Amino acid sequence: MKFVTDIIGDELGIFEKKFSDSVKSNAPLLDRIMKFIIKRKGKQLRPMFVFLSARLHGPVNESTYRAAALVELLHTATLVHDDVVDESLERRGFFSINAIWKNKIAVLVGDYLLSKGLLLSTDNNDFEHLHIVSEAVKQMSEGELLQIEKSRNLNLDEDVYFEIIRNKTASLLSSACGVGAWSTSKDEGICNKMKTFGQLVGIAFQIKDDLFDYGNENIGKPTGNDIKEKKLTLPLIYTLNKVSASKKRELVYLIKNENKNPEKVKYIIENVTAAGGISYAADKMNFYRDEAMKILHEFPETDVRKALEELVRYTTDRKY
Ligand code: IPE
Ligand code: IPE
Ligand code: MG
Ligand code: MG
Repeated sequence: MKFVTDIIGDELGIFEKKFSDSVKSNAPLLDRIMKFIIKRKGKQLRPMFVFLSARLHGPVNESTYRAAALVELLHTATLVHDDVVDESLERRGFFSINAIWKNKIAVLVGDYLLSKGLLLSTDNNDFEHLHIVSEAVKQMSEGELLQIEKSRNLNLDEDVYFEIIRNKTASLLSSACGVGAWSTSKDEGICNKMKTFGQLVGIAFQIKDDLFDYGNENIGKPTGNDIKEKKLTLPLIYTLNKVSASKKRELVYLIKNENKNPEKVKYIIENVTAAGGISYAADKMNFYRDEAMKILHEFPETDVRKALEELVRYTTDRKY
């Protein structure tokens, strides 16, 4: 991502220091876990979206840095909780927090990260940022809960799938672009346009994540986990709605009763691939990516815009 690092490399360097300072704790156990989290940092896509959305409308300022830290803190909090909910033992190429410290501690660590984000904003009177991001946090909980509810009765509705991913994932990317743009423009119209942009990117981003689950590349977290959790994502929803009634019965039976059996999960994945579920989802992903690009093209063609375009492409072309 040459453009991105050329344009916001300095900002990302400063951000890392501020982010690690923002999670410091005097409690020894928390301090140990925070050091673990800092060391195992992720791709930091959301801070990148904050900085580039900000730069599209002016030079970054102190509140932009706090906005980036706020968004990454909330993202990290939700990942820690998500791995408890999904019973997932691997994250960012290493053990998840719940794998090492168990669920009780992971729940409290997620709450700690969330509160640190809120305090960073309230201590600095970033109320507009807090307003934008709190809406996303609410939607993330709603999305994860809707997902659990729908995994119980094996939801096959594409609209519900999109509602889930809009809430659980796109909402935070949307708010990342929104707070970034607000921090430099203080313009509600611009902020809303950037939120729409972020939402489209976020939908494409989650479809990509769901596609990874059907592969067997090393992505730093388990694959095949969604079927194990009876999460019906786009490739499988498409497949079940397309195959013959008997095939559908067979696959539904396996998802219900053999979802923890790796051989059967592999068989389901083979069927999804054969039915065209993977390429269907990839097409949808590219559609949302292109819709996001269209919004960017409403802005003048600057280096910052080019970097944002590169970041959008990375969202769908990434290898992990
Ligand atoms: C993972 O997000 C969670 C989803 C919304 C799919 P990322 O893939 O951005 O996670 P990190 O921060 O890079 O680990
Ligand atoms: C995204 O869904 C989770 C959040 C929005 C926190 P997933 O459950 O698919 O994310 P991964 O695959 O565990 O990162
Ligand atoms: Mg998960
Ligand atoms: Mg996933």
